[in-house]
Amino acid sequence: MTTDHRIADSTLTNDRRHVFHSWSAQAQINPVAIAGAEGSWMWDFDGNRYLDFSSQLINVNLGHQHPKLVAAIQEAAGRLCTVAPIHADADRSEAARLIAEVAPDALEKVFFTNGGAEATENAMRMARLHTGRQKVLAMYRSYHGSTSGSISATGDPRRWPSEPSVPGVVHFMGPYLYRSSFHATTESEECERALAHLDEVVMFEGAHTIAAVILEPVVGTNGILVPPPRYLRGVRDLCDRHGIVLIADEVMAGFGRCGEWFSIQRWDVAPDLICFAKGVNSGYVPLGGVIVSDEIAATFDDRVYPGGLTYSGHALACASAVASINIFREEDVLGRARALGDAVGPALAKIAAKHPVVGEVRGLGAFWAIELVRSRETREMLVPYNASGADAKPMRDLLAACRERGVWPFTHFNRLHVTPPLTTSLADLELGLGRIDDALTVVDRYVTD
Ligand SMILES: Cc1ncc(COP(=O)(O)O)c(C=O)c1O
Repeated sequence: MTTDHRIADSTLTNDRRHVFHSWSAQAQINPVAIAGAEGSWMWDFDGNRYLDFSSQLINVNLGHQHPKLVAAIQEAAGRLCTVAPIHADADRSEAARLIAEVAPDALEKVFFTNGGAEATENAMRMARLHTGRQKVLAMYRSYHGSTSGSISATGDPRRWPSEPSVPGVVHFMGPYLYRSSFHATTESEECERALAHLDEVVMFEGAHTIAAVILEPVVGTNGILVPPPRYLRGVRDLCDRHGIVLIADEVMAGFGRCGEWFSIQRWDVAPDLICFAKGVNSGYVPLGGVIVSDEIAATFDDRVYPGGLTYSGHALACASAVASINIFREEDVLGRARALGDAVGPALAKIAAKHPVVGEVRGLGAFWAIELVRSRETREMLVPYNASGADAKPMRDLLAACRERGVWPFTHFNRLHVTPPLTTSLADLELGLGRIDDALTVVDRYVTD
């Protein structure tokens, strides 16, 4: 047995014996041992190479093992590995300055966390303390993290096992023209009606009881739902009318994924709080945070902010964020994400034209969904909402077909997401999309009309 295979065996043996995996029935999973990764590729110990079209968990925005990012972490580790949050630290200060610089005006302060859930948790806490109100409005078809507050705000089935959840969250429907809850047939109807619905929810809940609206400006895991052009402006105006804090959860959509620093900037809307994580440093070291408006920050000038974390603003994580933002600028990563979007859109349209199982393709930047249906006529989903077991077989077949062909996409419910690193070359993009095109033939046979 080669050394590589011995490492693979011990990795898998110890994983199965000792690692308790997230979101899984422990006995029913069969993880692949990853031997290495570089750029947009990863490989296992048997020499199988995969195009990482899920960017792991849609976080490795700069690709794997970016040399400048690795070097920055190594350099920082040699200098000073950790500094408690009560002290000032050069990397933390610089990371906060750079993050504030790329955020909309009048959001100048950063509260650092270890990841996305802690970011949304703290943003909701800030909004409640700032307004003195309790309720938070959140969308159905959303994910905000798996701590108690963030899972309560989540609008998908991952919340159900944690119920009864933290009181005070009310869910509303966002815009989604392909499956309109408002019987809309155009983007502008969908926009208008989704805003009217939110207005009504605010009226019925009592505006004076609502601290915040939290939303993903471009919904991620729950469908890559790009809002109609005027929707976010409408939500901003509604929040302004009622003194409600607008929280943009940019954990997945931010840091270049949509071709902007923060996706909401595409519509020229400024929220009061921005939650970030993932792409801020491509997950090389855990990091997240909340960018805080001057007005909310001022609430805590002479009043203690009752929240903190031992690793808030961790030195290595912040050093990697500094390096990451500099790489974004030096390598025009936002431009590259937009160029990927320009290439993915037409390529997916061609794929849709070929495969009857494709109901809709949508997205922007390096953030795309292929929505799969049994019938284009009825739009019946290829697998039911939240399918598992035998019901989910078509999507398992598709994922297996992709992996056999050397591409590793992200799948959720009846969708396949194309979310490669923003640094993916156009040649690799074409290669990966070709493999997905080929894999889709496996599920065309489920089409009923
Ligand atoms: C929009 C959004 N918010 C929050 C989170 C939670 O982030 P984390 O897993 O880092 O806690 C995620 C994770 O996927 C996310 O997509």
